[in-house]
Amino acid sequence: MIIARTIKEVRENIGEWRREGLSVGLVPTMGYLHEGHASLVDRARAECGKVVVSDFVNPTQFAPNEDLEAYPRDFEHDCNLLEEHGCDMVFYPSVGEMYAPNAATYVEILDEMPKQLCGKTRPIHFRGVCTVVSKLFNIVQPDKAFFGQKDAQQLAVIRRMVRDLSYGIEIVGCPIVRESDGLAKSSRNTYLNAEERKAALVLSKAVFRGEELVRSGVTDSGKILAEMTEIISAEPLAKIDYISAADGETILPADEITDGVLVAVAVYIGKTRLIDNFIAGGLK
Ligand code: PAF
Repeated sequence: MIIARTIKEVRENIGEWRREGLSVGLVPTMGYLHEGHASLVDRARAECGKVVVSDFVNPTQFAPNEDLEAYPRDFEHDCNLLEEHGCDMVFYPSVGEMYAPNAATYVEILDEMPKQLCGKTRPIHFRGVCTVVSKLFNIVQPDKAFFGQKDAQQLAVIRRMVRDLSYGIEIVGCPIVRESDGLAKSSRNTYLNAEERKAALVLSKAVFRGEELVRSGVTDSGKILAEMTEIISAEPLAKIDYISAADGETILPADEITDGVLVAVAVYIGKTRLIDNFIAGGLK
């Protein structure tokens, strides 16, 4: 596996692969990789000639009060996992390689979409995500890019950016990967102590109950969200940020749960903010 630390190295390798007629898949990550990321790499491996994974904790998507410094990092572990899953090149740039000291150009969706759900408490988050992902798209110029459904709002935002800016890149959404007890895999799960880890199960419990209600034919989002709220509120360590139903494409609020509607939760367990969701009728 090639470890590329500079944009120049990435471009040189991609150029060679292109001359050989190979397609390229990109999996953008912030490292500290787990089986959720591995599933994205596996999917890219199955669908593309060459697989590039970026491993970069992007400062522009963190607000000053967030966990940029504390965000877990382990590049050696990441390389081992990526090699096992057949990644061809990991792009591991420094902050200086990605952002010039006076960088002031951002990519931002200027409507309500990035202000919904996670955007309410993380107002600059999606501007940072769009900016770094658009830079990665320009650097790697992949045919396909792979994102997890766990960050469903991010997936919708990226699809929208790709459409609005006419990137000729196919965005592939991949299902949530869970621990055996249901907790959605996340790099932030490592922040949880044993008691919090147990308490965190209320997220998946609420998501599974919501899904069950939808499958049984309930379409009133009020009823579904109320039951999910009850499950999460019963856990003393949990503090709800939001429990919402939103159109899966626009992320605007949805009163009725029809196919494609996203039902998403964000909950603080102690100091750790976790997210989970389901999409009625499944991920498209
Ligand atoms: O989902 C993530 O890990 C990040 O938001 C992404 C897409 C790699 C951009 O930094």
